[in-house]
Order: sequence, then structure tokens, then C-alpha cells
Amino acid sequence: MSMSIEISFSKTAKISEGLVIALGSLAEPVSAAARSVDPAGQLDKAAKVAGFTGKSFATADIIAPVEAAADRIALIGTGEPDKLSAHEWMRVGGKAFTLVRKTEKLTVLLGEAAVPSVEAVADMALGLLMRSYSFDSYKTKKSEDDDTGPRKLTVVFQHPDASGCKKAFTSRQAVADGVKLARDLVNEPANVLGPVEFAARAKELEGLGIDVEILTEKEMKKLKMEALLGVSLGSVRPPRLAVMSWNGGKSKDKPVAFVGKGVVFDTGGISIKPAAGMEDMKGDMGGAAAVIGLMHTLAARKAKVNAIGIIGLVENMPDGAAQRPGDIVRSMSGQTIEIINTDAEGRLVLCDALTYCQDRFKPEVMINLATLTGAVMVALGQHHAGMFSNDDALSEALSKAGEATQERVWRLPLDPAYDKMIDSKFADMKNTGGRYAGSITAAQFLKRFVVDTPWAHLDIAGTAMGSPATDINQSWASGFGVRLLDELVRANYEG
Ligand code: BES
Ligand code: MN
Ligand code: ZN
Repeated sequence: MSMSIEISFSKTAKISEGLVIALGSLAEPVSAAARSVDPAGQLDKAAKVAGFTGKSFATADIIAPVEAAADRIALIGTGEPDKLSAHEWMRVGGKAFTLVRKTEKLTVLLGEAAVPSVEAVADMALGLLMRSYSFDSYKTKKSEDDDTGPRKLTVVFQHPDASGCKKAFTSRQAVADGVKLARDLVNEPANVLGPVEFAARAKELEGLGIDVEILTEKEMKKLKMEALLGVSLGSVRPPRLAVMSWNGGKSKDKPVAFVGKGVVFDTGGISIKPAAGMEDMKGDMGGAAAVIGLMHTLAARKAKVNAIGIIGLVENMPDGAAQRPGDIVRSMSGQTIEIINTDAEGRLVLCDALTYCQDRFKPEVMINLATLTGAVMVALGQHHAGMFSNDDALSEALSKAGEATQERVWRLPLDPAYDKMIDSKFADMKNTGGRYAGSITAAQFLKRFVVDTPWAHLDIAGTAMGSPATDINQSWASGFGVRLLDELVRANYEG
């Protein structure tokens, strides 16, 4: 967000300038609040001419009538406002942002027939913040009609329970900041964001009261993380493992653990990828970005939970020192892996991170996120992440959190028949299972490193980057996973 946005809530909004947005509904397209800023009484006619009926997500931008208190008046439809979900209120907020343009002051008036709840207002504010995000720090020339240039926007939501809104918004601000952090990291190019720089970004979370340890190559060698280290051999930039702990719960409570794939760039290594589209592989740390963003959110909203975040940070490059197909590495768990394809590197990073996580923290549940396979995009496209789990209750909880946040997940099978596909002639397993069921065999690989812990793997290759534009995101990076897992924690592991 190069735009700085200040959000506040007020019982009475004194309007003398800027843009006023009034919520309308099917029952009342132009609310009494809207009429109050239009003494000449021209709004109803203007709305009619614009074809505005109050249906949800419709907007009408109206040049302020001569005697209006504001510079500009706009209407947003909420359809039947009592029926809007939290996510739909976020979308209304996102729509509101599209009307802002060059305005520096926005006042949002809520209809009085059905005043939205304080939660709904807070969700609207969150949607507005998320929609306003843009990654433009490398654009040296701003175009004339650029609405997202660096400037300040003040937003006031008018609501009878202003202090209630403010309180509800506190946790949403934490979510907005966590999502922004994740998006920034995914959008950032790999020349700027190597493993060391990424680890430094994790270290910054100490400012929020998170303990952060950064393991160096030497320390990982001592831990015998040969699978993770093998991926890093071809890069001149050394690997890192970042371990973040947020202790917001009771000291006796076992932690919830999140593990992220942080391949800062994935060329494929010796099994090199085709040139077309390879630039997207700067986003191959989307799992790690979601974990950092989530930890930020949990700490910023002082979540009553003990949470661990672990991210494996490497660069996958071809080089004279790089690992080869046919190489055999010994993972931290002791299990050996035959490298068939050096482009199946994410699972090699994750397996050692998963082992480390369980050995050290004995978590109550462990969830890993990774831009792991192109195959998951073939299966599910960009609207669901692939979910694999050894635990029905955990998968159920994740699906629910996915519906609530609209960061959706779809469960795919694990089965011994798929597991057999990664048996190796020379080692305990191979790192690929052939052309069929690519996402499933990748998940089976990870499962071999999970020991008696309720676990879920989210394959976010289709959802973390290259994201379709929505009402709450216009950026290449979506920040997928932050809201999903924040909701999972909130609904299942707090208090
Ligand atoms: N990072 C890629 C997966 C990916 C592809 C993420 C496209 C986002 C967009 C991963 O490391 C990879 O290369 N996977 C291979 C596995 C194969 C070699 C078994 C793939 O999906 O082709
Ligand atoms: Mn790869
Ligand atoms: Zn990868």
C-alpha cells in the first residue's frame, strides 16, 4: 500500500469536503443519510438516471448537486444487508475504494433502515484496506490517471456505535497488515529478496513481541538437514531457516505450528525450467510469506495462542556445485531420498523443516503451506488451494475457515496406492512420482515425514500468485493463507 490510509469511526460525521459514499439497499436505494447531504433533493433522480437500484456491489458515482455538503456523492448497493456475509462486507469496502480516485477524504454513511453491525463495518474497512494495496515501489513514473499514487486518505465511517466499530476494527487492522506483508514479500523480486534478506524480514517481527531465531547453514549442517541444504548447493546465496514463536497462550499449551516453503527463486536447478514464465518463480516463497504474514497478524492482534512459524529459505539454481538427478541425500529424519528431478525442490526443503518442527516443538497441529506443484493448478485452478491431511477434524476446520474467509481449500486424497509411486530403487523414496497425480505424490512425500501429529498440507501454487483481480485484491500476489489461518486459529485454538 503506497497509499497511507487512516481509518476512524464517528457517531456524527460533519461533512464539508471530499467524497461521501452512502450505502443503499434494495429496500432503500437512497438512504435518509444520503439525502441529508443533498439539501436540494436531487439524489433520488440522479440514482434513478444512473440505474442504481441498491443491489449488492452496484455503484453509482454522482457529481455532487449544487447545494450538496460534499464535493462528490456516491452510492453503493448492499442488496439485502442483513444477508451479507463477512466476506461480502469486505467486498463492499473494496468497491468503496474504487470510488475514491483522487479524493483525500472519504466519509461513509450507513443506511438507517438497517444499520450494519460493528463487525460488518470493520469488515468493510478491512476490504477497503486490502483493495487499496498496490506494489509500485519500482515504478519511477506515475501515470496521470494513477489512483494509487503515494498519498494520504482519511476515511470516516459514520456509525451510532463508533467505539464498538473501533474495537472490532483493531483485529482487522492486524489482518490487513499481515496480508500486506505477505503480498509485499511475494511481489518483491528475487534479486532484492534472497534467503538472508527474507530472514531479516522475519527478524523484524521481534518488534511485535515474537521470538525469532535464524539458523545459518552451519547450524543446519549440524542438524543434518541434507535435503534442504541440497537444494541450496547451486546458489551463491546461503540458506536460512527462520523460527518464529508467538507465546500468547498459556505456558502449558502445546503450540500450533505453521511451516512454509521459502524458495526465493526456483529455476528448477539442473532440471531447469523453460524460460517462458520463469519470472513467476520469484513467488515460490508464497508459503513462507503467508507464515510470516500470519505470525505478524497473530502478534499484532495479541492472539491468545502459542504459535510457531518455521520457514525454509533457499534459492534453487543450476551451477557446478548444484545437486544432480540421481543424487541421494539423507534427510534430518534419517530417511534417504533419491533426487529424480531437481525441480521438485519444495518438498526437500519442507521435509527437514517439518522434522525440525516436530522434534523441537511437539505441536498440537502442524500445517504447512507451499507453492508446491503446477499440477494443483491443473486440478483446482486458482479458486481453491489443494488440501491434504491425516486428520478429518483438522480438514473440516480448515474447510470452514476457508468458507468464512473465501480463501478456499479443497481436500484431495492421500492413500497407500499413491505412496507406492514414490518408492525408490536406490533409496527410501524418490522426490517425484511420475506424471500422474503430481500434487498427491508430493503430499505423500511430505506425509512420510509426519510422525503422529495432526497435519495438513496446503498446496497454494494456484492461489498465492498470478491472482485474478477481485474486489479485495488487484495485486499479482494475493497474500493467500493469512486470513485463512488467522480465522482457523481464532475459531479453534484461542482462549
Ligand atoms: N515451484 C514449483 C511449482 C509451481 C509451478 C508453483 C507453477 C507455481 C506455479 C515446484 O517447485 C515445481 O517445480 N514443481 C514441479 C514438480 C515436478 C518436477 C514433479 C512441477 O509442478 O512441475
Ligand atoms: Mn521446482
Ligand atoms: Zn518450487
